[in-house]
Amino acid sequence: MKTARAYPNIALIKYWGKADEELMLPQTGSLSLTLDIHPTTTTVRVRPGASADRLFLNGSLAGTRATGRISRVLDVVRSVCAAKMKAECEKETPQLPFLDVVSVNDGPTGAGLASSASGFAALVVAAVAEYGVELDTRELSRLARRGSGSATRSVCSGVAVWHEGDDCTSVAESVDAPEMAMVTVVLDNTHKDVTSREGMRRTQETSPFHEAWVASTRQMLPHMLEACAKGDFERIGELTELSALRMHSVIMSAQPPILYLSPESWAVWEYAYQARTRGIPVYATSDAGANVVLLTKPEFAEKVAREASRFGSTQIAGPGRGAHLCDTHLDMDGIIAEAVKNSGELPDGV
Ligand code: DP6
Repeated sequence: MKTARAYPNIALIKYWGKADEELMLPQTGSLSLTLDIHPTTTTVRVRPGASADRLFLNGSLAGTRATGRISRVLDVVRSVCAAKMKAECEKETPQLPFLDVVSVNDGPTGAGLASSASGFAALVVAAVAEYGVELDTRELSRLARRGSGSATRSVCSGVAVWHEGDDCTSVAESVDAPEMAMVTVVLDNTHKDVTSREGMRRTQETSPFHEAWVASTRQMLPHMLEACAKGDFERIGELTELSALRMHSVIMSAQPPILYLSPESWAVWEYAYQARTRGIPVYATSDAGANVVLLTKPEFAEKVAREASRFGSTQIAGPGRGAHLCDTHLDMDGIIAEAVKNSGELPDGV
């Protein structure tokens, strides 16, 4: 049995578009901050003799869609691990068993706070360890990418850049950056109407501005990397807002259009502009949902969280650790027994 923990990340330079859907290659590079709140904890255990993986998400047996999604990633994990085992002992390629996966999100699932990023990052780290294989961060990041693009970055600590490239080179790595904090402003805890995956596809296929979005992201990323290296917080903030606004502009120009931001979201964005006129260094960003995340310096985080609490529930986050193994396991047997009982399946059912 192995357990891993990973945290969500919030992109400062956004990823919105795939060059290859199967390999999950992005059209452009992106950059994010891995947070230290809302972790996903995942415990996995081999299922000797079983004919499929099972997923228990937040205490319930997951349906075929979610299970299929993790199984496709686990198939890639198994083939990479089997190839590595064969290369090390030169025996026949081993047939690796299916897994039971028990995963708990400490935060809103599917509400634009990147639960799939922490979920897939934790999954690959736990699964690789359960198969007894050691992979470096690069290889783990490459595997996490197959589950969800943004998961590529949650394998890394703090600020991470995910490179545009091919199957081998499109991985994430941590980069140096100044001290930063984020304040999440949760306005809407419900599931988003259009998933990132679907929204990205629709934008790519229908927006006349999509090429301009790709070109501008390719232009902004090197500036962001330079600002991080120099520790230029104001420049990081300006580029963060620019990337998010350009992403939402291209999303709004899809057909049919997608509006992730609500009037309440814009009120938080307005707050950031207005707070800057009072000398508070705070910049806004939003992902594929109505929530807003405010980027600030650590010494202003409490003030920002207090002021922004009039819009929704706020929480302060700092830079978090990349996906890692933990010694304490989830109560796998208890969670599975309860979930199977509630789903009406036979204990050994798939
Ligand atoms: C707006 O990583 O959730 O958060 O790769 O299809 O799983 P898939 O999409 P996902 O998209 C994240 C989009 C974003 C921007 C970002 O995190 O860079």
